[in-house]
Amino acid sequence: MARLEWETAKIVRLRRMLMAWYEHSHRDLPWRESRDPYAIWVSEVMLQQTRVAVVEERFKEFLELFPTVDALARAPEQEVLAAWSGLGYYRRPRMLHRAAQFVVANCAGVLPQSSAELRLLPGIGAYTAAAIASIAFGECVAVVDGNVERVLYRVAGWETGVRAGSAALKRKVGELAGELMDAERPGDFNQALMELGATVCLPRNPLCLVCPLSTDCYTRGEHRRPPRPPMLSREIAHALALRTKYERETGRGASKARARAVREVLLEQRPASATVMPTMWELPQLREAAVPDRELCMAVRHAIMQVNYYVRIRTVTEEKVAALTLAGGARRWVPLREAGAMALTGLARKVLTRARLLPTEPADALAAMRTTEQEADADAG
Ligand code: ADE
Repeated sequence: MARLEWETAKIVRLRRMLMAWYEHSHRDLPWRESRDPYAIWVSEVMLQQTRVAVVEERFKEFLELFPTVDALARAPEQEVLAAWSGLGYYRRPRMLHRAAQFVVANCAGVLPQSSAELRLLPGIGAYTAAAIASIAFGECVAVVDGNVERVLYRVAGWETGVRAGSAALKRKVGELAGELMDAERPGDFNQALMELGATVCLPRNPLCLVCPLSTDCYTRGEHRRPPRPPMLSREIAHALALRTKYERETGRGASKARARAVREVLLEQRPASATVMPTMWELPQLREAAVPDRELCMAVRHAIMQVNYYVRIRTVTEEKVAALTLAGGARRWVPLREAGAMALTGLARKVLTRARLLPTEPADALAAMRTTEQEADADAG
């Protein structure tokens, strides 16, 4: 590893200040109570692009549904996607699921311990491998995420300019993190740097007055960053088609059969070959993005990556739905009480929730959706 030209005293001081700060300032988060590598793996995958407050809620639910690698591996993919619904970036749960199946099939259900071996699993990159290996197994390997990059750019006074995110700059950050690493507590050290970036060394308005590294920080404040690429805008429209079916209900002891009303919504499954959100369920897309005022049910903004979708939802009758919508994947009339448990796209869940059609929507799923949108905005930068 290339030596940095920092005196040892400064390295030791930064490390000591960071670890002392983390000792008394870290947040009590559920995955920090666990040494189970599987739980840490799930938390790290969820934490990519989703806010800690949202992950805090969803992490527990996910582990209740899939408490072990084996349980996750055995679950059908649609169940895993449904448990992830609203968290966005659905490639993450798919890869997590595939990797769990790989671990069960090839590693007797036991996660490998080194970052090098973890990286061989499907969907596990350098970041996740380093996080699991250092936090669960104490390997001395640096974790470099966006927060760590920002903290170290500022401490070192490296201008990111247009080369932000370049491989060379990332390598320099990795080297510096490695120099600073506390070899006795690698997992806590990595979490401390990420925590500092998430709570103190904020992208805008960093809290330098309370920062444990400020005396040795070159920048002490915001540094020059490349401008954010502008968000793109798209207009689309989806059909909200509802119908009521009457089912015969033959209650015990009832002398006459009664009819029970079942409200159903028309959902469409995205093709398995779709590049975004394959196999997830959505509302059928309308041919025309413009919707006549009297037919407009709601308008929502939904951000996915760098695109702001301005979405119009039109109420459409069963008779007209085929003519007004684009032919896509398989369609199914789904009882509303079953729709919430399906692998819905974030947009479909948002619309059905706002229309009060999902009966038992957990409050945090809405928060998760908002966060995913905000994070998508942030990602654009
Ligand atoms: N961001 C991602 N993983 C984290 C962790 N373990 N601690 C703090 N922030 C994180």
